[in-house]
Amino acid sequence: MPTSTARSAGRLFAPRRLLLLGVILGSGLKPASAGGPTSGLATPTFNRDVAPILQARCLVCHRRGQVGPFPLETFEQAGKRGLDIAEAVEERRMPPWKPVAGFGPKLAHDRSLTTGEVNVIRKWVEGGMPRGGDRDLPMPRTFEDGWSLGTPDLILEPLEDYVLAASGPDVYRCFVIPTDLPADVYISAVEYRPGNPRVVHHVMALVETGRQARAKDLADPGPGYTSFSGAGVDIVGDLGGWAAGNDAARLPEGVARALPKGADVILQVHYHPSGKAEVDRTRIGLHFAKTPIRQTLQWVGVTTHDIQIPPDRNRVEVRARWTVPVDVEVLSAAPHMHQLGREMRITVTHPSGRTSNLIRVSDWDPAWQGTYSFDRPIRLVRGSIVEVVAHYDNSAHPRNPNQPPKLVKYGVESFDEMCVGYLGIVKTGQDLTQPNQKDDLFAILLDQHRRMRYREQFAPVRRRR
Ligand code: HEC
Repeated sequence: MPTSTARSAGRLFAPRRLLLLGVILGSGLKPASAGGPTSGLATPTFNRDVAPILQARCLVCHRRGQVGPFPLETFEQAGKRGLDIAEAVEERRMPPWKPVAGFGPKLAHDRSLTTGEVNVIRKWVEGGMPRGGDRDLPMPRTFEDGWSLGTPDLILEPLEDYVLAASGPDVYRCFVIPTDLPADVYISAVEYRPGNPRVVHHVMALVETGRQARAKDLADPGPGYTSFSGAGVDIVGDLGGWAAGNDAARLPEGVARALPKGADVILQVHYHPSGKAEVDRTRIGLHFAKTPIRQTLQWVGVTTHDIQIPPDRNRVEVRARWTVPVDVEVLSAAPHMHQLGREMRITVTHPSGRTSNLIRVSDWDPAWQGTYSFDRPIRLVRGSIVEVVAHYDNSAHPRNPNQPPKLVKYGVESFDEMCVGYLGIVKTGQDLTQPNQKDDLFAILLDQHRRMRYREQFAPVRRRR
């Protein structure tokens, strides 16, 4: 049975006819305010130089009760692991941030450390990890435990807690939450509150109107149902997602995503067992648009189903492309592969013949899949060609679900593979506040999709992840 409910915390605002849109997911970490000396005689101290970096860049995950496996709040905690910390930041494993620096346009919410910050940590460790003077220690950083964007207009949560077993493989659980919205609404921000941040790795909110997810929920014992790649049903849109360490972000002024009346929201939660049984109930808060909406956000998945990855090959290339049917602005990008994925880059060939880069992830890890927002919208004129190039490793590495490796094809299960470059786009120049303007980007994409010989070339509707 549907084990979920919706709570309305405000009145509906700006009901509008709508199609579907997607997500902007931001991480919003603030840059370190003090980096300390990066060269010269003085050895950096913990209190003066290192603590501010850890506060700004690490504590969002490495504090009690969060996803990081140990806290880094005090001198003692950091000192114990000084060498590990220096190595993790120098090798750019930490903080987790997958896009390759400098490949495409500047990304918003970049949480990677500056070279100066890495140097401070390295020199502190090399210098014997001095504590420094008490007066230098910054005030402890406080974290917002409530809704950081204010009280949402609509809070959605499953009706029951989910109990995660102490050990075993990661769990991808879908909770179906009826919205009971009497009219379509524009959503300008979505805030995620993981109930138990120790085990919630990431969350995705998908929108469905066909009631298929309710049937799946009924058929699977316990709250919700299990599904690896997205909700396993035909969705009509999504409300973005959250990954450990991300802050809530609003869509740009005048841009919104749409939620149709009567829709069900499916919360797909990716759990990583912690070693003891854990209880979770993850909530999302929706903020309705309070200002006029000019553009609606739409997602396209530049993708192919033509995937054949032979066993024991460690660099198999898969390509997908999409011809842009109308002038658009790209607000964000989300590479998507499964366990064999190693690398993906998304590039553009403009009608002039000029090429440019959008984003590249060179050490893909399905546990850290992000949606990355560009610092400024990227304009693509009609006729531009977006190309996705992905590489897969089907050797016997630990992440390979098949031991020994075997031929892997397209599919939505964790042992299948996918190759999708999701792009969050708006139509250039669209102004829905003006008379006679239509919210037609979705219809344009759908029309292009229908006329295409290879239906799998890109997908305007079904964003299965
Ligand atoms: C977005 C959450 C997040 C942020 C931010 C983050 N970590 Fe981590 N960290 C993790 C998780 C989760 C693990 C466990 C291993 C994994 O899942 O990759 C981890 C593991 C580690 C490890 C041990 C494993 C390794 O790769 O060496 C170190 C050391 C570490 N983090 C240091 C840091 C430091 C230093 C910072 C800040 C500069 C930081 N982390 C920022 C989530 C985070």
